[in-house]
Amino acid sequence: MKTILTEGVSWVGFVDWNVRDFHGYVTDRGSTHNSYLIEDEKIAVIDTVKAQYSEDFLARVAEKVPLDKVDYLICNHAEPDHSGSFPVAVKAFPNAVVVCNAKCQKALSMHYDVSDWKFQVVEDAETLSLGTKTLQFFNTPMVHWPESMVTYYVEKEILFSMDVFGQHYASSYRFDDESDICEVMQEAKMYYANIVLPFERPVGNALERLGGLKISMIAPSHGVIWRSHISEIMQAYAGWRVSKPVKKVVIAFSSMWNSTRKMAKAIAAGAEESDVNVHLLDMAANNNTTFVTDVMDAAAVAFGSPTLNMGIMPRMASALTYVRGLKPKGKKGFAFGSYGWAAKGSDEVAGYMKAMNMEFICDPIVCQFGADDETLEKCREAGRKLAEIALQAE
Ligand code: FEO
Repeated sequence: MKTILTEGVSWVGFVDWNVRDFHGYVTDRGSTHNSYLIEDEKIAVIDTVKAQYSEDFLARVAEKVPLDKVDYLICNHAEPDHSGSFPVAVKAFPNAVVVCNAKCQKALSMHYDVSDWKFQVVEDAETLSLGTKTLQFFNTPMVHWPESMVTYYVEKEILFSMDVFGQHYASSYRFDDESDICEVMQEAKMYYANIVLPFERPVGNALERLGGLKISMIAPSHGVIWRSHISEIMQAYAGWRVSKPVKKVVIAFSSMWNSTRKMAKAIAAGAEESDVNVHLLDMAANNNTTFVTDVMDAAAVAFGSPTLNMGIMPRMASALTYVRGLKPKGKKGFAFGSYGWAAKGSDEVAGYMKAMNMEFICDPIVCQFGADDETLEKCREAGRKLAEIALQAE
């Protein structure tokens, strides 16, 4: 595997081929935990890997340099997928100083016993000379934790961007142009929807800040390194940040005895009369990870559930709880669902949608027991309205 980014800069991370659950995020293509080694008169390591892969990480560093020659261990982000091997690394690099901002120092001290760690606390925009190479640190609070920062290798214009621009994507290739770029962009989109989406303003601040830098390479903490598609990923982030809609309608539902399913299909049929992309998702067959990714750039949505125990079906409750926390913006739509003796399911769905500030284009569409022709026509008509909204997207 090629691990050299440029002269004196190497990847020393771990390819996590088999991770499939990243605290609820379904990572069908695995992930990588990226760590980077910079060799100069001084030697620096940027971030580490999950604790259980610390041996692999140390072995990669040791292939390049004697471990006691590492001078700086930089922490861009205290989340344990990147800081988990710090306790082992601090012991293995006896001469290393941990470089981080003050918030990160505090966060690390709440995760680990740091009593014997040597710290060098850096301010926003502070620089660190390694000899001929200069590193500069920029705080990027809430992207995606309060202490997050990025490291910029000034002379070579390499941005070690931490979680920003990452993808959960395992590969034996390290660069975007060596990989299937459609897969990489899809994984970057999924990563954004599942991790970064709630942080619109902090992401805007970070992009504005970093937009002033000359960037020839973006080396994130997960996935492949961007060197050929930098403008594409930057442009994509600008759209994802505001959940910029495309001509797409998402209809997601759970069903018990097929009545709500028939309603969902009628909504889809109404929408499909127009030239828009219609996604019809039975939440019994779809996971929350792909659901929120789909919703993020939908122009219009309809979510449905029958009443179950005076509430909604558990898979739909899980999906809506997940997507509510991630806060997609600017969606229009409605709730729907069948019921036996109390129309509580669709009301609860509507409650979730209201909590996400979605704009209702009509009241919940409901029917008692089986969906009759009148109900199905109402669904088709509402589907047509969703499509009208989607057609207005760019
Ligand atoms: Fe990959 Fe926020 O950690």
